[in-house]
Amino acid sequence: MKLTIYSRLRNKIESSELLVPIVYVLTQNKLFRELSYFVARRRIKEFEKKKIFGLAIENSCLCNAKCVFCPNTNMKRKKIIMGMDVFNKLVERLKEEKVTLRFVNLTGTGEPLLDKNIFKKIKILKKEFPEANLFLPTNFSLATKEVIEKLIDSGLDTITISLNADNAADYKKLMGLDFDKTVSNIENLIKIKKERNSKMVIMLTIVVNDINAENVKGFYEKWSDKVDAMAVNGVHSWGGAVKQYNSKKYWKIRYACRNLFEQIVVQANGDIVLCCLDYEGTTVGGNVMKDKVMDAFNLGKIGKIKKMHFNGEVSKIDMCRQCRFSERGMDWLV
Ligand SMILES: C[S@@+](CC[C@H](N)C(=O)[O-])C[C@H]1O[C@@H](n2cnc3c(N)ncnc32)[C@H](O)[C@@H]1O
Ligand code: SF4
Ligand code: SF4
Repeated sequence: MKLTIYSRLRNKIESSELLVPIVYVLTQNKLFRELSYFVARRRIKEFEKKKIFGLAIENSCLCNAKCVFCPNTNMKRKKIIMGMDVFNKLVERLKEEKVTLRFVNLTGTGEPLLDKNIFKKIKILKKEFPEANLFLPTNFSLATKEVIEKLIDSGLDTITISLNADNAADYKKLMGLDFDKTVSNIENLIKIKKERNSKMVIMLTIVVNDINAENVKGFYEKWSDKVDAMAVNGVHSWGGAVKQYNSKKYWKIRYACRNLFEQIVVQANGDIVLCCLDYEGTTVGGNVMKDKVMDAFNLGKIGKIKKMHFNGEVSKIDMCRQCRFSERGMDWLV
């Protein structure tokens, strides 16, 4: 596994409580705020001018797991699979509106492998948006041999497997799933990828929390030679819905959120919502079945919040004030 210096540094910061105060001192000051905002505003204008964005498609908001750090289990919104009608309309609109996609994140608050049309959808995206990097975050518990072969055949660029633990007991506590089954699925994937000479990138992720914090190093060492990439992520609060780990609760200086400006988020019913953390869909800009994607993404409720982020008024927005993605402003600089 080869990681960039930025990825290594990011993984260290996410997993080490010791580094948090250093990041705090570096980012919670006026000078850094000026720098981050200067770069952010230039890049936001560039995204808008060139119409280059990322896209998150929630193919399923149903899930087979019960992760303690995810609000899916208690989510009140209707749990469905995105129909092909909604998916096709979304693709049609993006083409008509001449949007260039830098990446497509094939998930939302749910498990994408519950969607039997997922392979068909990936093939369509690959054909219509060949420039986009397609990645699929999944708990991988449902990955049979057939699923693995179909994923490889679909042309998916990266599979991001959320394993989160290095032992069965932690895994059960954290996700409520069978550890041995998922590990065996990952081993099958590595084997089949090799046999087929596939270029699909296999990434493993771990969300650091009170249950697994001590095992992050072991997790890393166990898998780093077997997979292509690994990411360590601190728990985010889903806009205040779950407890955040490894972070000062009240970081005063807030930054424009890169996700908000960079990624169009479409939920399973076709609603275009604020961001991938808006799991209940509280801020809806429009619906792909009746609205233009760019209008929903730039005007109305989402447009209003974007303006506030652009103007440095993030602390006035309830969800964003409690969110770690407006906390550091560092991601604009890489
Ligand atoms: C919401 S899940 C959806 C896809 C799939 N069900 C999965 O778990 O990979 C997408 C990613 O968000 C991560 N995630 C969920 N809750 C989180 C939290 N509170 N903080 C950080 N990452 C989180 C998951 O581990 C996963 O990698
Ligand atoms: S993190 Fe993924 S696997 Fe876990 S409950 Fe949420 S959607 Fe399901
Ligand atoms: S800062 Fe706001 S817009 Fe950005 S991810 Fe958090 S809740 Fe969403």
